Order: sequence, then C-alpha cells, then structure tokens
Amino acid sequence: MAQFSSTFLDELIARSDLAELISRHVDLKQSGANLVGLCPFHNEKSPSFSVSVDKQMYYCFGCGKGGNAFRFLMEHDGYPFPEAVEFLAQKIGMPIPDSKPVNPREAARKKHGLALLDKVTGIFSRCLHAEENKKALNYFAQRKLSPAIIQKYQLGYAPAGYGFMKRCFAEDHNTLKSLEAIGVLIKNERGYADRFRERVIFPIRDKQGRVVGFGGRILDDGEPKYLNSPETEFYHKSHLLYGYSEHRESVRKHKMLVVVEGYMDVLAMASYDLDYAVAPLGTAITESQLRMILRLHDAPIFCFDGDNAGRKAAWRSIERMLPIIKSEYSPQFLYLPDGEDPDTLLQKEGQKAFENRLKNDARPMLETWIQGLKNIAGDGVEGRARMAKKADQMLSQVSDDYLRQAWQGEIEKVSEVKLSMQKQAQDLPKSRQYIARKPAQYLTVNPMKHDHFMAGLLQKPMRFQSLPEDAFDFFIDTHPIHPIYTRAFSLVGDNKSTELDIAAQLMREFPDNQHIARWVNLPTVEDDEFQLLLMDMHITYLNDLLGRSDGLAVKIQMNEELKTLRTQQKQLKKYLSDKESL
Ligand code: GTP
Ligand code: MN
Repeated sequence: MAQFSSTFLDELIARSDLAELISRHVDLKQSGANLVGLCPFHNEKSPSFSVSVDKQMYYCFGCGKGGNAFRFLMEHDGYPFPEAVEFLAQKIGMPIPDSKPVNPREAARKKHGLALLDKVTGIFSRCLHAEENKKALNYFAQRKLSPAIIQKYQLGYAPAGYGFMKRCFAEDHNTLKSLEAIGVLIKNERGYADRFRERVIFPIRDKQGRVVGFGGRILDDGEPKYLNSPETEFYHKSHLLYGYSEHRESVRKHKMLVVVEGYMDVLAMASYDLDYAVAPLGTAITESQLRMILRLHDAPIFCFDGDNAGRKAAWRSIERMLPIIKSEYSPQFLYLPDGEDPDTLLQKEGQKAFENRLKNDARPMLETWIQGLKNIAGDGVEGRARMAKKADQMLSQVSDDYLRQAWQGEIEKVSEVKLSMQKQAQDLPKSRQYIARKPAQYLTVNPMKHDHFMAGLLQKPMRFQSLPEDAFDFFIDTHPIHPIYTRAFSLVGDNKSTELDIAAQLMREFPDNQHIARWVNLPTVEDDEFQLLLMDMHITYLNDLLGRSDGLAVKIQMNEELKTLRTQQKQLKKYLSDKESL
C-alpha cells in the first residue's frame, strides 16, 4: 500500500465533499443533522442510508455499510485505496505529497526497531548453529525439522542466562531501550534481562514479511511451553498469523489454505511439502485473523483436535466467523483423531494420508455448526427447540442476507421449528453483533445503550473529558467496542488532540470497523440524554464489579457509590420529565 501521511489524508477528507461524491449515485435529502437517501449498496424502498456532513462519514442502517470518502470509492466504485486517494486529490486539486512520512523522527524510530528485530533474528539463528548449543539443533532434528526448513523459517535459539542479548549489542541506554521496545529485553529492578532464555525461537512476520516478534519453545516439558513476544508497536498477536507471509504465494499456487493450532504444525506440514498452513499465535482465533484468512483464500480448512478442547475451539471459530462470513466463502472444518495434531499425524501416517484427510474428511461450516448445535442442545423435542433458539440467535449475526436465509432453511429442516427472529434482526444490522458476543456479565445491558453512549462520545469528543475515572474500564477487553473505546481515550489523552477529530482518526486506524461511521450518523445524542446514558453505564459497571469483588470494605464503598449514583440518576430523570412537561 502506498504510504500517505496521515495529515495529508485528514486534509483530503476534510476538503472533500462526501455528500457531493455520493449524490452522483444517490438522491440525498436533509433529515435532522444528516442527509438521507436510498442505500446504493442494497435494494431498499425506504431510505436508511445516512451521510453525516459534519463528520464526512456515511452509514446504512439497513445493510451496515459505512465509512469515509475513501471507503465509498473503494466499496462502491471498486477503487483500490491508493487510487481512491488519487481520485479525491485530483478532484479537489490537491497535490499528492512525496511519500515521505510527516513525522520523520517517528518513522526513523520505527525503521530502527524493525532493523533491530531483523538483527536479533540473525543472532538467534547463528546461536542455533553454535557448537555449545547443540542440544537446540538436536531438538529440531528430533522433531524432524530439516536444515532447509530451519533456514527457510529462520528458526533460532535463545541461550540460557539473562544477559546474552546485552552482550550482543553496545550497552548504551538507547540501545537497551530499543531492545525493550521490540520485546526482547525486560526491564526490572536490577536492570535489563533477556525475555527469551533457553528456548528455540520461531520468528513471527507481519504481512510484509518483516519479523515483528518471536515465539519461543522450551526444550523439555517445563512451563510455559511457549513464550511469545509481548504486545509491542510491532507485534499485535491478535492481528498476526504464523506463516502468513511465508505461505501467501504458495496458498495462491495450490489453492489451498489450512489453519492449524500451533507453530510446530505449520512447520511439520511445510516439511512434508504442504507449505500452505497458518496458525494464530497461541490465542483463540480473532475476527481480524479470520478476515485475513478469508481474504487470502475463500475455502480455508480449519484443523482441530477431535477432543473436547478441539471441538470447543472449532465452535469459537464458527461464532467469530458469523459476522464476516459471506456466501462467496466456503470454510471447512476438519477434526483429527483424538489427541492428534497435524504434526503428530504427519509423523505417524505421512503426507499422502494427511492430504487424504484434508481432501475427504473436511466438512462444510454449516454441517460443523449444526453438529455443534446438536451437541449443545441435546435430544428430544426440547432439544430441537433449544437448537432452533440458539441457531436463531446466532443466525442474526450473519450479515450476508442470502447466506442467512439459506442456512435458516437448513436449520428449520433439521430442527423442524420455524425460525422467527430474522426480521427483527434485520432492522438492527450491527448492534445485534453485540447481543450475542457480549460476555455474560453484560447480558443485563441493553446493547442500544452502548451504541448511544458511543454515538454521544464520538459526536462530541469533548465529552470524553468529563467521564469519571473508572469509565476507562466500562468495556471489558473482549468486548467488541473495547479497542476503539480505549484508543479514543488515549487520543483524547494526548494533549495535542484537542483539535483532532477523534472519529476521523479512529476511522483511519480501524478502516474495517463500520460502527464508527454508524455512531456518528445516529441521531444526535443531546447533553441530557448523554448524562443519563453515562450514569446508566456507570451503574451497570459498578454493579458488575461489585458482583465480582470480594472484600467487605470494598463492597461497602462500592455500595455507597452506587447509592449516590442511583439518587443522582433519579433526580436527573425527574428534572428531565419536569422540563418536558413544562
Ligand atoms: P508442541 O508441543 O511443540 O508440538 O506444540 P503444539 O503446537 O502441539 O502445542 P499445543 O497444541 O500445546 O499448543 C498450540 C499452540 O498454542 C502453540 O503453538 C502455541 O502457540 C500455543 N501455546 C501452547 N502452550 C502455550 C503456552 O504455555 N503459552 C503460550 N503463550 N502459548 C502456548
Ligand atoms: Mn504438537
């Protein structure tokens, strides 16, 4: 992707006229603070497509498509990103600056970090071949990884002791800080120490093939078995896949993509010439990783251990895939025999047998899903009812209308129950995602509340400044809103960002997230309404916290806080209703 500076992109968006751009295709009419019209992305009779002139973002409340001017050009007119930028720049006569980053110091630091990661990769790799570390090389041999594989994936070894990395570099303050920033040194009271010790090393690369972090496996049965880089500005475990850049070309060539659970499975497959596997980095697969996978190949095969844990992991992948699955994709699921992973199976039965499993035993997502539903719901008439209920709930998250209908038909056949919720779900295309993905302790919260709360904040980012201190924790970290919310917090926290348009900045940092565009296009959240929402959120949060804490003193204090908040809320409600009846 061409590198445009963020200042340039911001200015381009600010100076472009989104309404004009869209009105070439859509008849727009003023409605409240926004313009509305018939959505150009799906067929509809009454308008649910909204354009916020103030924030320069559009959103369709019918089909859930939304974004800024770049997004519109990309999704509606099929421009690749750089061309969308060029088109807009040309339209308003803005010269495209040389692709020099605006903040040279920042860019230099980043470049330095990546160069350092590369250097460290080389050091680990040389270490693996050092005479005194024979046991590491023996370990790989024992796991049947050939010298060619070791070389291709730049596998390495981090020796024992805490001061190895320091000895490889000059021990000046800046170097040590940089090594900490890339995640290979840990700072403690006694100074800097090696993070990876006495472990074989798997370098982890980003999409562009640059090493951004490491996985390290212990040589024996110690704990933890695997240790990975911490989150750094380069390494984001939920957005990376092991093997992605190494195997991208090969996936295209073989028209095959297999998703496995671990590094060793990726490498074992590669050493049997099956160099088209990727793996998440030790965590359950995320939506972002699933997107990467489906973009790379439309029919990936997800491999799981056939035991209980494997079935649970498969179920989680299905749940995460529902919001992004389209009828164009055909993901498949393959359960391996109990207790086996691709690595152990390949060693046991060899390449051909394993390939046969991939070819013959992988099942379509629908079939795997139905099997999972049956397992959860149990037998009998009530079992079928429970199955229908759960399926209905899950189906409401599928945003591809055609696929949802097709699947609904199949579930109705199996459960012999007519599903009913679809209509309702269609009216709430995105917020429904929160309903099902919400962790248990939030089940009492109306998801619309989250929505309006976020709308209120992004419509008037100044409101961030008046939030109570514990508002930072309103969303637990698995909540889909959490990353955007906390990022907004830190943007507001930067002193320079008072003039910064938080919504536009977030849109740029989360280009695939449609919620942002929707929030700014929701009806204006007035100050009074926002105050009420904030109180509601706060009360829910404290209640939940109370439920999870032990310690009498803490509980008493929280109860006091809750009482005060409830009283304030009552007063505000009364004040508002009095005002209204005036
Ligand atoms: P081997 O025992 O080397 O064959 O590893 P495996 O890939 O079979 O490991 P396993 O099935 O136990 O785990 C699958 C993946 O989960 C690994 O590749 C790691 O990414 C991750 N994982 C396993 N154990 C740990 C651990 O203790 N800590 C962390 N962070 N990740 C782990
Ligand atoms: Mn294994």
